[in-house]
Amino acid sequence: MNISIKTKKEIEKMRISGHLAAKVLDMIKPYIIPNITTLELNNICHNYITNTQKATSGCLGYHGFPKSVCISINEIVCHGIPNSYEKLKIGDIVNIDITIIKNKYYADTSKMFIVGHHINKQTKKLCHVAKKSLYSTFKIIKPGIKINLIGETIQKYINTTTYSIVEEYCGHGIGKNFHEKPYIIHYKNYDKTIILKEGMTFTIEPIINAGKKHVFCMKDGWTVKTKDNSLSAQYEHTILVTNNGCEILTLRKTEKINKIYQNT
Ligand code: MF3
Ligand code: CO
Ligand code: CO
Repeated sequence: MNISIKTKKEIEKMRISGHLAAKVLDMIKPYIIPNITTLELNNICHNYITNTQKATSGCLGYHGFPKSVCISINEIVCHGIPNSYEKLKIGDIVNIDITIIKNKYYADTSKMFIVGHHINKQTKKLCHVAKKSLYSTFKIIKPGIKINLIGETIQKYINTTTYSIVEEYCGHGIGKNFHEKPYIIHYKNYDKTIILKEGMTFTIEPIINAGKKHVFCMKDGWTVKTKDNSLSAQYEHTILVTNNGCEILTLRKTEKINKIYQNT
């Protein structure tokens, strides 16, 4: 399969899916409180997606994933499985990763939440840097650029910090499939073959570790952790390549950046 170029009609559907996925993250914010379990958070998201949005979770049953969202706390890098024994506590950093299917089209987005108001400067900085690393790519995306400029841009920024970029997980094309071509590497790489074109839709989702880049997958087959037990943070958006820049399909109401970038 080649890289799909979305038609106007498909883009309209992806805007709807993107908007719904973003709304789940805004909806869940007030529930990020001490003592709530990750299963309770999962269930609130699931009911909202299913009953209010009349949409479907893309995660539930995906390659056997047992829950409706991924929730990854502290040193968990990604794909944390919601459960009834893990409770949020003050100072935790929590990634919630939402994938929606609506009208057969997917959207995928995640953000970090910090539990409580007393906030450790270092944890806050890690989340801030992870977010900025994603945002840094919006200013360079346009038709005609090599796809590896995305990873190079993230790497350049992260190299100004003491943090590292996880190499095992990529951004991905998205549309009628959860994961499709092109795959987006988040670190400096020499995969120079793909040129971005108007109408491509893909996610960018850099994972940034406070310590070393190395990670491992636990025996449950999903939960990924940092090897050195350092904290890990990730932000993800689904984006569309426009005629002269990009559009953030999963932008949240509460997010203080532009939806449309003209990178001429
Ligand atoms: N949402 C993740 C991504 O960004 C994938 C989660 S797969 C699941 O690509 F099965 F764990 F849900
Ligand atoms: Co994704
Ligand atoms: Co995701």
